[in-house]
Amino acid sequence: MATTADNMNTEDGVRRRDWIHIAAVSFAGVGGASVLYPLVSQMAPTADVLAASTTDVDVSALEPGQSIKGVFRDQPLFVKRMTPEEIAEMQEVDLGGLRDAESLEQRLGEGNADILVQLGVCTHLGCVPLGAGEGEDKGEFDGYFCPCHGSHYDAAGRIRKGPAPTNLAVPEFAFQNENVIRIG
Ligand code: FES
Repeated sequence: MATTADNMNTEDGVRRRDWIHIAAVSFAGVGGASVLYPLVSQMAPTADVLAASTTDVDVSALEPGQSIKGVFRDQPLFVKRMTPEEIAEMQEVDLGGLRDAESLEQRLGEGNADILVQLGVCTHLGCVPLGAGEGEDKGEFDGYFCPCHGSHYDAAGRIRKGPAPTNLAVPEFAFQNENVIRIG
């Protein structure tokens, strides 16, 4: 069995991964719970690593109306290329009537014509809204619908009806080139 000393003697990370596996196996006779916990806890990113992580998304294959469902810092991420019709409709919405007033341009960010980036986390109690996948219920405003307690978001991810207090969150992001967006 490898020891902690083995682990500390190496810096390339390879031995560390070996050690985690070997250690887990060596504990196997002790009991299921005591095997799993050390393995999971050592492999999970620490809070500060997670907070600093970025996610690159290639949007080159996205057709208008299509979305990518991904994960960003352990949370669902929706990246959508909006259709010209959705863009025109969302630009016409009277901001004065919105619970959380944001223009489409504010949500897309400067220089971004049609790629909507947002967390797939309902701002009520954190369920994952429907609407990013093909054939999913888009709700009464043709955007996103949270089935947990009935929050309806429009095609720009703005809350329009139901208990959610705010729009779907837009994480920080920047285009690396015309095809790749770096989130975070
Ligand atoms: S968690 Fe979405 S409506 Fe309650």
